[in-house]
Amino acid sequence: MLSPIRWEDGALALLDQRRLPAEEAWLRCEKPEQVAEAISGMAVRGAPAIGIAAAYGVALAVRDTADPAAARRRFEEAFDLLAATRPTAANLGWALERASLALERALDRAEPAAEALLTLAHDLEESQLAADRRLARLGAELLSEGDRVLTHCNTGALATGGYGTAGGVIQAAFEFGRLRSVWVNETRPLLQGSRLTAWELQRAGIPFRVVTEASLGALMGRGLVDRVLVGADRIAANGDVANKIGTYPIAVLAERHGVPFYVAAPRSTIDPGAASGEAIPIEERDPREVTSVLDRAVAPPGTVAVNWAFDVTPHALVKAIVTEVGVLEPPYGESIASALAT
Ligand code: MRU
Repeated sequence: MLSPIRWEDGALALLDQRRLPAEEAWLRCEKPEQVAEAISGMAVRGAPAIGIAAAYGVALAVRDTADPAAARRRFEEAFDLLAATRPTAANLGWALERASLALERALDRAEPAAEALLTLAHDLEESQLAADRRLARLGAELLSEGDRVLTHCNTGALATGGYGTAGGVIQAAFEFGRLRSVWVNETRPLLQGSRLTAWELQRAGIPFRVVTEASLGALMGRGLVDRVLVGADRIAANGDVANKIGTYPIAVLAERHGVPFYVAAPRSTIDPGAASGEAIPIEERDPREVTSVLDRAVAPPGTVAVNWAFDVTPHALVKAIVTEVGVLEPPYGESIASALAT
């Protein structure tokens, strides 16, 4: 298992996911601005991994000052910068809020802020791995021997800095002998499926085939998919799920073909402040990501494109949400509230 996030010689090292699978190149970030750029540019991506990287980003912001007022000011500047990078990822705001509490606690006790924030970032990384492993095991129990699972985007270790969410369930199911193979949706426009998920599955020795988004209807129509397993960037209190653009049509197809559709995510992805999917902010990215593929233009100059990075799947299409504190089932208002209370 390869973690895309490392704390090395006093700096944050990030596996540059834009360059995979061609190259395993690492970025060194010594300032919060560099971390923010790595998150916006998607060198590091996946909601939980974004949150962990941001926690290291605020730790970097305060490291050269012993003055509490200066530490607070630098923290707040870095907080605002990092919080604005990927607005749909709930784990980003969640991790930054945790960092804010850690900073205030340290300042109250006259302890070094940088040390407290670095400890928090390490803790977040460790607890993500523990949560991933727990939810992977719970999710794997939902599968049956011989299952062919369809997944979207990338939800493995690259996306969490741990073991993965939906990707972790796939890995655990394979280890338990409950998985036959994986259909990897290529995931336009940035191809996280074919570039990243395929790379991870190949390294893990798990059988997979890549399919285009356009093939999914035919795939399900031919009865070749037994379950859909995806991750989430933000889950509303009623169970509506924001995830990588293209997730919603997969859920509709799954419903049409009687294929169970599961979401796997840590509790930190649930946003109790969003009553439904309508309250979830949807990141809109540069349209050039749509009009080009791997930096090569695939539309004439001047073409107008829309690039919503996420869509919302209504909770009615979700069979269960697998978290580290249990498998949540409808009615989600109740199961989510009790998961948050544990
Ligand atoms: O835009 P990305 O690549 O950050 O989107 C990632 C996803 O949509 C994942 O499904 C989600 O973050 C869950 S990661 C375990």
